[in-house]
Amino acid sequence: MAKEIYLTGITTTGTPHIGNYVGAIRPSIAASKDTNKSNFYFLADFHALAKNEDPNKISQSTLEIAAAWLALGMDTENSVFYRQSDIPEIPELTWILTSMTAKGLMNRAHSYKAAVQANLEGGNKDPDKGITMALYSYPVLMAADILMFKATKVPVGRDQKQHVEMARDIAQRFNHHFGDVLVLPEPVIDEHTAVLAGLDGRKMSKSYNNTIPLFAAEKKFRKLIMKIKTNSLEPGEPKDVDGSTLYDIYKAFATPEETAEVEKLYAEGIGWGDMKQRLFEYINDHISPARNEYDRLMADPGIVEAELKKGAIRAREFAVPYLDEIRSAIGIRKLA
Ligand code: TRP
Repeated sequence: MAKEIYLTGITTTGTPHIGNYVGAIRPSIAASKDTNKSNFYFLADFHALAKNEDPNKISQSTLEIAAAWLALGMDTENSVFYRQSDIPEIPELTWILTSMTAKGLMNRAHSYKAAVQANLEGGNKDPDKGITMALYSYPVLMAADILMFKATKVPVGRDQKQHVEMARDIAQRFNHHFGDVLVLPEPVIDEHTAVLAGLDGRKMSKSYNNTIPLFAAEKKFRKLIMKIKTNSLEPGEPKDVDGSTLYDIYKAFATPEETAEVEKLYAEGIGWGDMKQRLFEYINDHISPARNEYDRLMADPGIVEAELKKGAIRAREFAVPYLDEIRSAIGIRKLA
């Protein structure tokens, strides 16, 4: 049987935080080494444009995310690791797919509907205020990312599931008209990955401004961990692990035995200050080798650029001939 092709993208809007690490980066790095699969990982910098970020933020985030994934051991031999904007075939395929995507399908996208809803709730007369065409047709670009590499499996968070289903719908419609050219992808949602809470106890997210950057300098890292919200129980009072952000984060990094140890400490009434120190030391030990490598890459972006260029060459070896087939199927052909 042909190898499954796994593909996933990371939008370049922000600094990788420990929630990203546990939820997406760590499982992807592990998968990148699996020789039974073909893997494509890319930095979705064209998608970042839909969020109207400032230019420096987009390039800084691209560097930080690429450096983080490389420092954590992304296998760039077994996997193809590239930057979306280095593959001109992707925007070309986007336009081709745009020509055959029903507008009504895009009207139903959750992300677009949420933006409209926010405008209405904010009392705006124009429901489309501030909504760009990039936001509106975001799922078509995402479909091109996926279909360009014949991906069969697309690991994503739950919020992106609909987009992968739309890619599938778009591919189906294309094939109905032009023959069996595109491969239908499936979303892969890992129900087991931990979703971490942030400093304030809400889901860790850039939009809540409650994140702990994965590679914050040691002092800053400690300071942030000390800020994590707890209840007001005193040292010596038994504590519940359920609903404890400190516990959840510890558990996401530690072995089951180490976690059981901490459960015991909670029952015995460990003080919050001690638990915070313990959590800091544990994670710090765990990530400091990768942080050193990250710092090295951040200081020498040429290494990162070279890795991405290498990935782009490999990605285009696949994309260029395949796009020719797609063009030919729809009638964009040489005349003689
Ligand atoms: N939209 C995705 C997100 O915000 C990122 C992304 C872009 C992606 N293109 C993709 C994910 C293709 C999977 C496949 O998380």
